[in-house]
Amino acid sequence: MRGSFLPLFLFVFLIQGAVFADDQALRQKALQAGLAPLPAVAPEAADNPVTPQKIQLGKRLFFEPRLSKSGLISCNTCHNLGMGGDDNLPTSVGHGWHKGPRNAPTVYNAAFNRAQFWDGRAKDLEQQAKGPIQAAAEMANTPDQVVQMLKSMPEYVAWFRESFPSDPDPVNFDNVVKAIGAFESKLITPGAPFDRFLNGADNALSPEQKDGLALFIDRGCTACHNGVNVGGQAYFPFGLIKRPGADILPPEDKGRFAITQSASDEYVFRAAPLRNVALTAPYFHSGQVWDLKQAVLVMGAAQLGAELSDEEATKIAAFLGSLTGVAPEIIYPKLPVETDETPRPQL
Ligand code: HEC
Ligand code: HEC
Repeated sequence: MRGSFLPLFLFVFLIQGAVFADDQALRQKALQAGLAPLPAVAPEAADNPVTPQKIQLGKRLFFEPRLSKSGLISCNTCHNLGMGGDDNLPTSVGHGWHKGPRNAPTVYNAAFNRAQFWDGRAKDLEQQAKGPIQAAAEMANTPDQVVQMLKSMPEYVAWFRESFPSDPDPVNFDNVVKAIGAFESKLITPGAPFDRFLNGADNALSPEQKDGLALFIDRGCTACHNGVNVGGQAYFPFGLIKRPGADILPPEDKGRFAITQSASDEYVFRAAPLRNVALTAPYFHSGQVWDLKQAVLVMGAAQLGAELSDEEATKIAAFLGSLTGVAPEIIYPKLPVETDETPRPQL
Protein backbone atom coordinates (compact mmCIF):
# COMPACT_ATOMS: atom_id res chain seq x y z
CA MET A 1 0.00 0.00 0.00
CA ARG A 2 2.63 2.49 1.14
CA GLY A 3 4.80 1.96 -1.90
CA SER A 4 2.03 3.12 -4.20
CA PHE A 5 1.95 6.54 -2.51
CA LEU A 6 5.62 7.22 -3.13
CA PRO A 7 5.40 8.08 -6.85
CA LEU A 8 2.39 10.29 -6.15
CA PHE A 9 4.24 12.05 -3.35
CA LEU A 10 7.26 12.57 -5.58
CA PHE A 11 5.05 13.86 -8.37
CA VAL A 12 3.36 16.45 -6.11
CA PHE A 13 6.72 17.43 -4.68
CA LEU A 14 8.21 17.97 -8.15
CA ILE A 15 5.22 19.97 -9.37
CA GLN A 16 5.33 22.18 -6.30
CA GLY A 17 9.06 22.67 -6.75
CA ALA A 18 8.53 23.63 -10.37
CA VAL A 19 5.81 26.13 -9.44
CA PHE A 20 8.04 27.58 -6.77
CA ALA A 21 10.91 27.92 -9.25
CA ASP A 22 8.52 29.57 -11.74
CA ASP A 23 7.43 32.10 -9.13
CA GLN A 24 11.00 32.89 -8.28
CA ALA A 25 11.88 33.31 -11.95
CA LEU A 26 8.85 35.59 -12.51
CA ARG A 27 9.83 37.69 -9.50
CA GLN A 28 13.39 38.08 -10.84
CA LYS A 29 12.06 38.95 -14.26
CA ALA A 30 9.81 41.66 -12.78
CA LEU A 31 12.68 43.17 -10.81
CA GLN A 32 14.94 43.06 -13.86
CA ALA A 33 12.24 44.82 -15.89
CA GLY A 34 12.51 47.73 -13.45
CA LEU A 35 9.44 47.02 -11.32
CA ALA A 36 9.94 47.41 -7.58
CA PRO A 37 7.94 47.23 -4.35
CA LEU A 38 6.37 50.47 -3.17
CA PRO A 39 8.35 51.87 -0.22
CA ALA A 40 6.31 52.57 2.93
CA VAL A 41 7.77 56.08 3.15
CA ALA A 42 8.04 58.73 0.43
CA PRO A 43 11.22 60.72 -0.12
CA GLU A 44 11.18 64.07 1.70
CA ALA A 45 11.54 67.34 -0.23
CA ALA A 46 14.86 68.92 0.82
CA ASP A 47 13.33 72.32 1.60
CA ASN A 48 10.19 70.97 3.26
CA PRO A 49 11.01 68.79 6.30
CA VAL A 50 7.93 66.79 7.27
CA THR A 51 6.76 67.19 10.87
CA PRO A 52 3.59 65.84 12.52
CA GLN A 53 2.28 69.43 12.91
CA LYS A 54 2.78 70.15 9.23
CA ILE A 55 1.07 66.92 8.17
CA GLN A 56 -1.90 67.75 10.40
CA LEU A 57 -2.15 71.28 8.98
CA GLY A 58 -1.76 69.94 5.44
CA LYS A 59 -4.61 67.50 6.03
CA ARG A 60 -6.90 70.33 7.16
CA LEU A 61 -5.96 72.37 4.10
CA PHE A 62 -6.54 69.37 1.81
CA PHE A 63 -10.11 69.13 3.12
CA GLU A 64 -10.62 72.95 3.39
CA PRO A 65 -13.27 74.09 0.85
CA ARG A 66 -12.63 77.75 1.74
CA LEU A 67 -9.36 77.48 -0.20
CA SER A 68 -11.70 77.94 -3.18
CA LYS A 69 -13.45 81.16 -4.20
CA SER A 70 -16.86 79.49 -3.80
CA GLY A 71 -16.05 78.03 -0.40
CA LEU A 72 -17.34 74.77 -1.83
CA ILE A 73 -14.45 72.99 -3.55
CA SER A 74 -11.55 71.39 -1.70
CA CYS A 75 -8.67 69.29 -3.00
CA ASN A 76 -10.70 66.31 -1.77
CA THR A 77 -13.60 67.25 -4.11
CA CYS A 78 -11.55 66.11 -7.10
CA HIS A 79 -9.09 63.86 -5.25
CA ASN A 80 -11.54 62.02 -3.02
CA LEU A 81 -9.43 60.00 -0.60
CA GLY A 82 -12.29 57.56 -0.12
CA MET A 83 -12.53 56.87 -3.87
CA GLY A 84 -8.97 56.09 -4.90
CA GLY A 85 -7.78 59.70 -4.66
CA ASP A 86 -9.59 60.93 -7.77
CA ASP A 87 -13.11 62.03 -8.78
CA ASN A 88 -14.16 59.16 -11.06
CA LEU A 89 -15.29 61.68 -13.70
CA PRO A 90 -14.04 61.75 -17.29
CA THR A 91 -12.72 65.28 -16.77
CA SER A 92 -12.95 67.30 -13.56
CA VAL A 93 -15.65 69.82 -12.74
CA GLY A 94 -14.58 72.96 -10.84
CA HIS A 95 -15.67 76.52 -10.07
CA GLY A 96 -19.06 77.48 -11.49
CA TRP A 97 -19.61 73.89 -12.68
CA HIS A 98 -16.85 74.50 -15.22
CA LYS A 99 -15.73 71.32 -16.94
CA GLY A 100 -11.93 71.09 -17.22
CA PRO A 101 -10.02 69.51 -20.10
CA ARG A 102 -8.36 66.61 -18.26
CA ASN A 103 -9.02 63.64 -16.02
CA ALA A 104 -7.90 63.98 -12.37
CA PRO A 105 -5.05 61.60 -11.54
CA THR A 106 -4.92 60.06 -8.07
CA VAL A 107 -3.03 61.83 -5.29
CA TYR A 108 -2.12 58.47 -3.74
CA ASN A 109 1.60 57.80 -4.26
CA ALA A 110 1.95 61.00 -6.31
CA ALA A 111 5.00 61.74 -4.13
CA PHE A 112 6.84 59.02 -6.08
CA ASN A 113 6.22 60.57 -9.50
CA ARG A 114 9.17 62.27 -11.12
CA ALA A 115 7.00 65.31 -11.88
CA GLN A 116 3.33 66.17 -11.46
CA PHE A 117 0.43 66.44 -13.96
CA TRP A 118 -0.21 64.41 -17.13
CA ASP A 119 2.40 66.55 -18.86
CA GLY A 120 4.81 66.83 -15.91
CA ARG A 121 4.62 70.65 -15.82
CA ALA A 122 5.03 70.90 -12.02
CA LYS A 123 8.30 69.66 -10.60
CA ASP A 124 6.94 68.57 -7.21
CA LEU A 125 3.84 68.42 -5.01
CA GLU A 126 4.43 71.89 -3.55
CA GLN A 127 4.64 73.58 -6.95
CA GLN A 128 1.70 71.46 -8.11
CA ALA A 129 -0.65 72.59 -5.32
CA LYS A 130 -0.36 76.25 -6.38
CA GLY A 131 -2.04 75.36 -9.68
CA PRO A 132 -5.55 74.20 -8.74
CA ILE A 133 -6.09 76.86 -6.06
CA GLN A 134 -5.66 79.57 -8.71
CA ALA A 135 -6.98 77.82 -11.83
CA ALA A 136 -10.17 79.53 -13.03
CA ALA A 137 -11.75 76.16 -13.84
CA GLU A 138 -10.82 74.58 -10.49
CA MET A 139 -10.80 76.59 -7.23
CA ALA A 140 -10.59 80.06 -8.88
CA ASN A 141 -8.95 81.75 -5.89
CA THR A 142 -5.97 84.11 -5.40
CA PRO A 143 -3.03 83.73 -3.02
CA ASP A 144 -4.00 87.02 -1.27
CA GLN A 145 -7.54 85.85 -0.70
CA VAL A 146 -6.28 82.49 0.62
CA VAL A 147 -3.98 84.20 3.11
CA GLN A 148 -6.78 86.56 4.18
CA MET A 149 -9.08 83.58 4.74
CA LEU A 150 -6.48 81.73 6.84
CA LYS A 151 -5.52 84.79 8.89
CA SER A 152 -9.19 85.40 9.68
CA MET A 153 -9.34 82.27 11.84
CA PRO A 154 -7.07 82.23 14.94
CA GLU A 155 -6.85 78.42 14.88
CA TYR A 156 -5.15 78.50 11.47
CA VAL A 157 -2.70 81.21 12.61
CA ALA A 158 -1.70 79.03 15.58
CA TRP A 159 -1.36 75.91 13.42
CA PHE A 160 0.88 77.72 10.90
CA ARG A 161 3.05 78.97 13.82
CA GLU A 162 3.44 75.43 15.12
CA SER A 163 4.22 74.07 11.65
CA PHE A 164 6.72 76.78 10.63
CA PRO A 165 8.23 77.81 13.99
CA SER A 166 11.22 79.71 12.56
CA ASP A 167 9.11 81.75 10.12
CA PRO A 168 8.27 85.28 11.42
CA ASP A 169 5.16 85.54 9.19
CA PRO A 170 4.16 81.91 8.71
CA VAL A 171 0.69 82.34 7.16
CA ASN A 172 1.69 82.70 3.51
CA PHE A 173 0.95 80.94 0.23
CA ASP A 174 4.28 79.11 0.05
CA ASN A 175 3.65 77.57 3.45
CA VAL A 176 0.12 76.55 2.41
CA VAL A 177 1.50 74.38 -0.37
CA LYS A 178 4.37 73.11 1.80
CA ALA A 179 1.88 71.84 4.38
CA ILE A 180 -0.30 70.26 1.69
CA GLY A 181 2.80 68.64 0.16
CA ALA A 182 3.80 67.23 3.56
CA PHE A 183 0.34 65.68 3.97
CA GLU A 184 0.39 64.27 0.44
CA SER A 185 3.75 62.62 1.12
CA LYS A 186 1.86 60.41 3.60
CA LEU A 187 -0.74 59.30 1.05
CA ILE A 188 1.13 56.10 0.30
CA THR A 189 -0.50 52.71 -0.33
CA PRO A 190 2.01 49.92 0.34
CA GLY A 191 1.12 46.26 0.82
CA ALA A 192 -0.54 45.61 -2.57
CA PRO A 193 -0.70 41.91 -3.58
CA PHE A 194 1.96 42.70 -6.22
CA ASP A 195 4.30 44.10 -3.53
CA ARG A 196 3.72 41.05 -1.33
CA PHE A 197 4.56 38.85 -4.32
CA LEU A 198 7.77 40.79 -5.04
CA ASN A 199 8.69 40.48 -1.38
CA GLY A 200 8.44 36.70 -1.51
CA ALA A 201 4.79 35.67 -1.00
CA ASP A 202 4.21 33.28 -3.93
CA ASN A 203 0.48 33.06 -3.31
CA ALA A 204 -0.18 36.80 -3.18
CA LEU A 205 -0.98 36.73 -6.93
CA SER A 206 -3.51 34.40 -8.57
CA PRO A 207 -2.33 32.26 -11.51
CA GLU A 208 -4.18 34.66 -13.84
CA GLN A 209 -2.41 37.67 -12.31
CA LYS A 210 0.96 35.92 -12.67
CA ASP A 211 0.25 35.28 -16.35
CA GLY A 212 -0.77 38.93 -16.64
CA LEU A 213 2.46 40.09 -15.01
CA ALA A 214 4.52 37.94 -17.41
CA LEU A 215 2.59 39.43 -20.36
CA PHE A 216 2.99 42.97 -18.99
CA ILE A 217 6.75 42.42 -19.10
CA ASP A 218 7.04 40.29 -22.27
CA ARG A 219 4.77 42.51 -24.33
CA GLY A 220 6.86 45.57 -23.43
CA CYS A 221 4.55 47.55 -21.12
CA THR A 222 7.42 47.83 -18.63
CA ALA A 223 9.48 49.79 -21.16
CA CYS A 224 7.38 52.79 -20.06
CA HIS A 225 5.55 51.66 -16.92
CA ASN A 226 8.30 50.82 -14.46
CA GLY A 227 9.76 51.91 -11.11
CA VAL A 228 7.97 51.80 -7.76
CA ASN A 229 4.91 53.59 -9.19
CA VAL A 230 4.72 51.41 -12.33
CA GLY A 231 4.96 54.62 -14.35
CA GLY A 232 5.18 58.32 -13.55
CA GLN A 233 8.86 58.46 -14.44
CA ALA A 234 9.20 59.38 -18.12
CA TYR A 235 7.39 60.88 -21.13
CA PHE A 236 6.27 59.24 -24.35
CA PRO A 237 4.06 60.08 -27.29
CA PHE A 238 0.51 58.80 -26.69
CA GLY A 239 0.18 56.93 -29.97
CA LEU A 240 3.86 56.06 -30.35
CA ILE A 241 3.00 53.43 -32.98
CA LYS A 242 -0.62 54.26 -33.84
CA ARG A 243 -2.49 57.36 -32.74
CA PRO A 244 -5.76 56.51 -30.97
CA GLY A 245 -9.01 58.11 -32.17
CA ALA A 246 -9.85 61.75 -31.46
CA ASP A 247 -12.25 60.74 -28.68
CA ILE A 248 -9.40 59.22 -26.65
CA LEU A 249 -6.69 61.65 -27.83
CA PRO A 250 -8.46 64.98 -28.42
CA PRO A 251 -6.43 66.89 -31.05
CA GLU A 252 -6.44 70.18 -29.11
CA ASP A 253 -4.53 68.80 -26.08
CA LYS A 254 -0.96 68.42 -27.30
CA GLY A 255 0.54 67.41 -23.94
CA ARG A 256 4.12 68.48 -23.28
CA PHE A 257 4.21 70.53 -26.46
CA ALA A 258 2.40 73.30 -24.56
CA ILE A 259 5.35 73.49 -22.15
CA THR A 260 8.39 72.97 -24.37
CA GLN A 261 7.03 74.22 -27.76
CA SER A 262 9.17 71.50 -29.29
CA ALA A 263 7.58 69.62 -32.21
CA SER A 264 8.88 66.31 -30.86
CA ASP A 265 6.76 66.86 -27.73
CA GLU A 266 3.43 66.92 -29.58
CA TYR A 267 1.02 64.51 -27.87
CA VAL A 268 3.73 63.50 -25.39
CA PHE A 269 2.45 62.60 -21.92
CA ARG A 270 3.86 61.08 -18.78
CA ALA A 271 3.55 57.29 -18.72
CA ALA A 272 0.69 57.10 -16.24
CA PRO A 273 1.54 55.64 -12.82
CA LEU A 274 -0.50 52.44 -12.57
CA ARG A 275 -0.67 51.97 -8.79
CA ASN A 276 -4.35 51.59 -7.70
CA VAL A 277 -5.39 51.89 -11.34
CA ALA A 278 -8.34 49.54 -10.74
CA LEU A 279 -9.83 52.28 -8.50
CA THR A 280 -9.32 55.24 -10.80
CA ALA A 281 -11.49 54.76 -13.90
CA PRO A 282 -12.15 56.38 -16.29
CA TYR A 283 -8.75 56.21 -17.99
CA PHE A 284 -6.32 58.37 -19.97
CA HIS A 285 -5.89 62.14 -19.73
CA SER A 286 -9.15 62.45 -21.66
CA GLY A 287 -10.97 60.09 -19.27
CA GLN A 288 -12.83 58.47 -22.13
CA VAL A 289 -12.29 54.77 -21.37
CA TRP A 290 -14.14 53.26 -18.40
CA ASP A 291 -13.06 49.64 -18.71
CA LEU A 292 -9.54 48.69 -17.62
CA LYS A 293 -9.33 45.82 -20.11
CA GLN A 294 -10.31 48.25 -22.86
CA ALA A 295 -7.55 50.64 -21.70
CA VAL A 296 -5.05 47.77 -21.92
CA LEU A 297 -6.18 47.02 -25.49
CA VAL A 298 -5.83 50.72 -26.42
CA MET A 299 -2.29 50.75 -24.99
CA GLY A 300 -1.32 47.56 -26.85
CA ALA A 301 -2.37 49.05 -30.19
CA ALA A 302 -1.24 52.66 -29.59
CA GLN A 303 2.09 52.11 -27.82
CA LEU A 304 3.22 48.69 -28.99
CA GLY A 305 1.50 48.10 -32.31
CA ALA A 306 0.26 44.83 -30.78
CA GLU A 307 -3.18 43.33 -31.21
CA LEU A 308 -3.59 41.80 -27.76
CA SER A 309 -6.14 39.01 -27.61
CA ASP A 310 -9.13 39.33 -25.32
CA GLU A 311 -7.58 36.68 -23.06
CA GLU A 312 -4.25 38.49 -22.86
CA ALA A 313 -5.93 41.81 -22.05
CA THR A 314 -8.04 40.09 -19.37
CA LYS A 315 -4.92 38.66 -17.75
CA ILE A 316 -3.04 41.96 -17.88
CA ALA A 317 -6.05 43.76 -16.36
CA ALA A 318 -6.14 41.12 -13.61
CA PHE A 319 -2.46 41.82 -12.92
CA LEU A 320 -3.15 45.57 -12.81
CA GLY A 321 -5.76 44.79 -10.14
CA SER A 322 -2.94 43.45 -7.95
CA LEU A 323 -1.51 47.01 -7.78
CA THR A 324 -4.26 48.12 -5.39
CA GLY A 325 -2.57 48.84 -2.05
CA VAL A 326 -3.67 49.70 1.46
CA ALA A 327 -4.62 53.37 1.84
CA PRO A 328 -3.96 55.07 5.19
CA GLU A 329 -6.95 55.59 7.50
CA ILE A 330 -7.76 59.29 7.34
CA ILE A 331 -9.88 60.86 10.05
CA TYR A 332 -11.94 63.70 8.60
CA PRO A 333 -10.57 66.90 10.20
CA LYS A 334 -12.60 69.50 12.11
CA LEU A 335 -12.17 72.89 10.45
CA PRO A 336 -12.38 76.22 12.31
CA VAL A 337 -15.55 78.30 12.24
CA GLU A 338 -15.45 81.52 10.15
CA THR A 339 -15.15 85.01 11.66
CA ASP A 340 -16.28 88.46 10.50
CA GLU A 341 -13.02 88.77 8.53
CA THR A 342 -13.40 85.49 6.62
CA PRO A 343 -14.06 86.19 2.92
CA ARG A 344 -17.63 85.28 2.04
CA PRO A 345 -18.29 82.55 -0.55
CA GLN A 346 -18.43 83.88 -4.12
CA LEU A 347 -20.33 81.47 -6.29
C1 HEC B 1 -11.65 70.83 -9.91
C2 HEC B 1 -10.93 69.61 -9.63
C3 HEC B 1 -9.61 69.68 -8.93
C4 HEC B 1 -9.30 70.29 -7.73
C5 HEC B 1 -10.20 71.13 -6.86
C6 HEC B 1 -7.93 69.96 -7.43
N1 HEC B 1 -7.43 69.13 -8.42
FE1 HEC B 1 -5.63 68.27 -8.42
N2 HEC B 1 -5.89 67.71 -10.33
C7 HEC B 1 -7.06 67.87 -11.05
C8 HEC B 1 -6.80 67.55 -12.45
C9 HEC B 1 -7.83 67.59 -13.58
C10 HEC B 1 -5.44 67.23 -12.54
C11 HEC B 1 -4.66 66.90 -13.82
C12 HEC B 1 -4.38 68.20 -14.54
C13 HEC B 1 -3.33 68.11 -15.62
O1 HEC B 1 -2.59 67.14 -15.70
O2 HEC B 1 -3.22 69.07 -16.42
C14 HEC B 1 -4.90 67.30 -11.18
C15 HEC B 1 -3.60 66.94 -10.82
C16 HEC B 1 -3.17 66.87 -9.51
C17 HEC B 1 -1.94 66.26 -9.06
C18 HEC B 1 -0.92 65.56 -9.95
C19 HEC B 1 -0.96 64.06 -9.79
C20 HEC B 1 -0.14 63.38 -10.84
O3 HEC B 1 -0.08 62.15 -10.86
O4 HEC B 1 0.47 64.07 -11.68
C21 HEC B 1 -1.86 66.42 -7.71
C22 HEC B 1 -0.77 65.93 -6.78
C23 HEC B 1 -3.03 67.17 -7.31
N3 HEC B 1 -3.81 67.41 -8.43
C24 HEC B 1 -3.27 67.64 -6.04
C25 HEC B 1 -4.26 68.59 -5.76
C26 HEC B 1 -4.30 69.40 -4.54
C27 HEC B 1 -3.31 69.32 -3.42
C28 HEC B 1 -5.42 70.18 -4.63
C29 HEC B 1 -5.90 71.22 -3.65
C30 HEC B 1 -5.02 72.34 -3.42
C31 HEC B 1 -6.05 69.85 -5.89
N4 HEC B 1 -5.31 68.92 -6.56
C32 HEC B 1 -7.26 70.38 -6.32
C33 HEC B 1 -8.27 68.25 -10.53
C34 HEC B 1 -8.41 68.98 -9.36
C1 HEC C 1 5.79 53.78 -25.14
C2 HEC C 1 5.37 53.93 -23.75
C3 HEC C 1 4.22 53.09 -23.24
C4 HEC C 1 4.02 51.73 -23.38
C5 HEC C 1 4.89 50.72 -24.09
C6 HEC C 1 2.82 51.43 -22.65
N1 HEC C 1 2.30 52.57 -22.10
FE1 HEC C 1 0.61 52.68 -20.97
N2 HEC C 1 0.76 54.70 -20.96
C7 HEC C 1 1.75 55.44 -21.56
C8 HEC C 1 1.40 56.84 -21.54
C9 HEC C 1 2.23 57.98 -22.10
C10 HEC C 1 0.15 56.92 -20.89
C11 HEC C 1 -0.66 58.19 -20.66
C12 HEC C 1 -1.62 58.36 -21.82
C13 HEC C 1 -2.50 59.59 -21.68
O1 HEC C 1 -1.99 60.68 -21.90
O2 HEC C 1 -3.66 59.46 -21.37
C14 HEC C 1 -0.22 55.57 -20.53
C15 HEC C 1 -1.40 55.23 -19.89
C16 HEC C 1 -1.77 53.94 -19.53
C17 HEC C 1 -2.96 53.57 -18.82
C18 HEC C 1 -4.03 54.54 -18.31
C19 HEC C 1 -3.81 54.86 -16.85
C20 HEC C 1 -4.70 55.91 -16.29
O3 HEC C 1 -4.60 56.16 -15.09
O4 HEC C 1 -5.49 56.53 -17.01
C21 HEC C 1 -2.95 52.21 -18.66
C22 HEC C 1 -3.98 51.35 -17.95
C23 HEC C 1 -1.75 51.72 -19.29
N3 HEC C 1 -1.06 52.79 -19.81
C24 HEC C 1 -1.39 50.38 -19.39
C25 HEC C 1 -0.41 49.91 -20.26
C26 HEC C 1 -0.23 48.51 -20.61
C27 HEC C 1 -1.03 47.36 -20.03
C28 HEC C 1 0.78 48.45 -21.52
C29 HEC C 1 1.28 47.24 -22.26
C30 HEC C 1 0.27 46.53 -23.04
C31 HEC C 1 1.24 49.82 -21.72
N4 HEC C 1 0.48 50.67 -20.95
C32 HEC C 1 2.27 50.16 -22.57
C33 HEC C 1 2.91 54.94 -22.10
C34 HEC C 1 3.11 53.60 -22.44
